[in-house]
Amino acid sequence: MIVCKSPAELARMRPANVLVAKLLAELRDAARPGVTTADLDQLAEKRIRAEGGEPAFKGYHGYPATICASVNEQVIHGIPSTRALVEGDILSIDVGVRMDGFYGDAAITVPVGQISERAADLMRVTEESLYKGIAQARVGARVSDIGHAVQQHVEAHGFSVVREFVGHGIGAAMHEEPQIPNYGEPGRGPRLTEGMVLAIEPMINLGKPAVKILADGWTAVTRDGSLSAHFEHTVSVTAAGPVILTTVNGAAPGAVAAPESEPPGRRRHLA
Ligand code: CO
Repeated sequence: MIVCKSPAELARMRPANVLVAKLLAELRDAARPGVTTADLDQLAEKRIRAEGGEPAFKGYHGYPATICASVNEQVIHGIPSTRALVEGDILSIDVGVRMDGFYGDAAITVPVGQISERAADLMRVTEESLYKGIAQARVGARVSDIGHAVQQHVEAHGFSVVREFVGHGIGAAMHEEPQIPNYGEPGRGPRLTEGMVLAIEPMINLGKPAVKILADGWTAVTRDGSLSAHFEHTVSVTAAGPVILTTVNGAAPGAVAAPESEPPGRRRHLA
């Protein structure tokens, strides 16, 4: 069952989602050479609790931390550690917050110092693909229109879509129906209606799409060792169009706030 949210519930979802967006902005700035991913995790947990929220990931199926910090060939679910970031790394940061009974969930991939042009291209195309997907989150569209738009954009640039993890509905639970793959034929799956809230999260590899899970039971890495990027927003489907909830200010209805340039998961295995 897909849970639709009332306007009052959507308003209550805002604080968790705005905090997620603010945190990601802070973590982006904090991700410098020499900083460890555990440092970033601690910063995130302190901030969430100071704002009266709860880390959504900590304890979820035993996940041990507040953020997922996935470096380079790590796709998602990298566990924060004493590994220090080095110049040239790309770092995917995923964070979820629960506040007032509702969840917010978003992710970005950020550069650590100067990065290669290939890495920058991968990040840009991945973020653009997220916005292509978000643009499909309209009343009357189908769930698979989102993934189709993501896949088209990504493959046109020679990158590949991870299949094993998917986006998801979100609300009073972090993972609700429907699952949202980042690939597929258009016109399939449930029809989107007003009040649905979706976490759309393309995970995109520079090389081949296959991933494997490391012995820690969490970290997903590319099988071929190529770089991977991940961007995610929590988005509501409204009569006026998609509204991104994970923004620092809160966007006007219908406004898909695109970053600079053009613009610019999961559960096959859960999260
Ligand atoms: Co998610």
